[in-house]
Amino acid sequence: MQKYLVHPVFGIISEVVEERREETWVIGGFVRDILLDKSPEDVQDIDIVVVGSGIGLAEKVRQKLGKDASLAVYKNFGTAMIRHGNLELEFVGARKESYRRNSRKPIVENGTLEDDQRRRDFTINAMAISLNKDTYGDLLDPFNGQDDLRKKIIRTPLDPEETFSDDPLRMLRGIRFATRLGFEIHDKTFEAIKKANSRIRIVSQERITGELNKIMETTRPGRGFRLLDACGLLQIILPELHRMKGVDEVEGIHHKDNFLHTLEVLDNLAAKSDDPWLRWAALFHDVAKPATKKFEPGTGWTFHAHDFIGAKMIPGIFKRLKLPLNDRMKYVRKLVRLHLRPIVLSQETVTDSAVRRLIFDAGDEIEDLMTLCEADITSKNERTVRRHLKNFAIVRKKIVEIEEKDHVRNFQPPISGDDIQYIFGIKPGREIGILKNAIKEAILDGKIENRFEPAYRMLLEEAKALGLKQVNSLEASRHQDGAPVEDDR
Ligand code: CTP
Repeated sequence: MQKYLVHPVFGIISEVVEERREETWVIGGFVRDILLDKSPEDVQDIDIVVVGSGIGLAEKVRQKLGKDASLAVYKNFGTAMIRHGNLELEFVGARKESYRRNSRKPIVENGTLEDDQRRRDFTINAMAISLNKDTYGDLLDPFNGQDDLRKKIIRTPLDPEETFSDDPLRMLRGIRFATRLGFEIHDKTFEAIKKANSRIRIVSQERITGELNKIMETTRPGRGFRLLDACGLLQIILPELHRMKGVDEVEGIHHKDNFLHTLEVLDNLAAKSDDPWLRWAALFHDVAKPATKKFEPGTGWTFHAHDFIGAKMIPGIFKRLKLPLNDRMKYVRKLVRLHLRPIVLSQETVTDSAVRRLIFDAGDEIEDLMTLCEADITSKNERTVRRHLKNFAIVRKKIVEIEEKDHVRNFQPPISGDDIQYIFGIKPGREIGILKNAIKEAILDGKIENRFEPAYRMLLEEAKALGLKQVNSLEASRHQDGAPVEDDR
């Protein structure tokens, strides 16, 4: 395995180890990933385990690396972390107890390398390569991790019940690795997850969501959610999605399984975009379908307003998941709220004014919204798919044309509230809202162009109807068309 230890840092560690005469190994994700053919230069997190003091070794290595390297020591846990360029090196002493980063429980009992390996999460994460001179590059793989890598299996080194009871987050880690690597979870390991699933409740939401985010980053995140469901974890950590499962039938009419549909949408979308927030939007776009589901005789199954109600559910879900409640949440909420609009639009003749309104409402999210809607087509009927995609292509083309012409994407009213106060000598009040809205609606409907002159003409007429008298006049030159005006909407 020497050929994998190309990074100069391994040479430096090896020199220090030689002086200290402690068994030292690189272990975990680095070994797994290079054996999976990842280039060693691309692995930035390196875990080092030493039969001795992890902190002591790290201090010496840090001295050798010079001042470019920084050291953080976690005395309670007997670990230390060196940052050097884009590398993160974690040092830990071999231990008899379970290895856990972020554990609150201090770990004290030292052990042999094999003790340490057996307390790790999966066989593929328990392989170690020696950094000691006489055994440099030797692989120690007592649990046949290499075999499992070849067979594409996620399996615990110990009895899985024991491994998961050491740290229940590992149930999610297993699903994350299976999803990312396209591996199967070994039957016994999976059965143990099913049995222990409720123990996930003792794990902090931050760690759970960290794993969900990692599942989201994979090429086929849908598989991860399917596995979460199959082992009973979904019901605990994302009950809203679990509720979407299943098919009801009345009078011989059934609706599709909204959970499976959602996962298909998510995978379709993941093939088009890496944006994690767009992926979250795909996961939740139909989240309110169970709450809005109705069978209406003569019509069939309906999910009225599931777009609006779904959008309302987003802040609560984000809060519980400890996902950010900032503009990222608002982005997801907006996409959920608007996800039906392009579909409805493309089912009819695509009018300019409908497209203009869509651009106005979606703003900068318009392209992402279209991507989501295209991913939302999961019909198995090729003709239906072709028809929808063709219509969406028309909508996309119109979006570009209309945006070029009318600039409504980040709509700035051509006449501001201040302008209206000045022209009619009035104080802020109801009339201003009415007038501004009338102009906005006329622009969106295509009755007037999005320019100052026509808007001004219209304003004067509308104001007359409200009984307002013009007391000042606004020079058109103050508003060069196309130039931004103050937005006080
Ligand atoms: N580990 C463990 N149990 C955990 C977390 C980590 O046994 N709950 C062990 C595994 O041996 C793992 C190593 O610690 O390989 C490093 O953990 P971490 O950096 O979280 O994961 P990696 O395996 O390196 O994978 P990645 O960085 O891709 O998440």
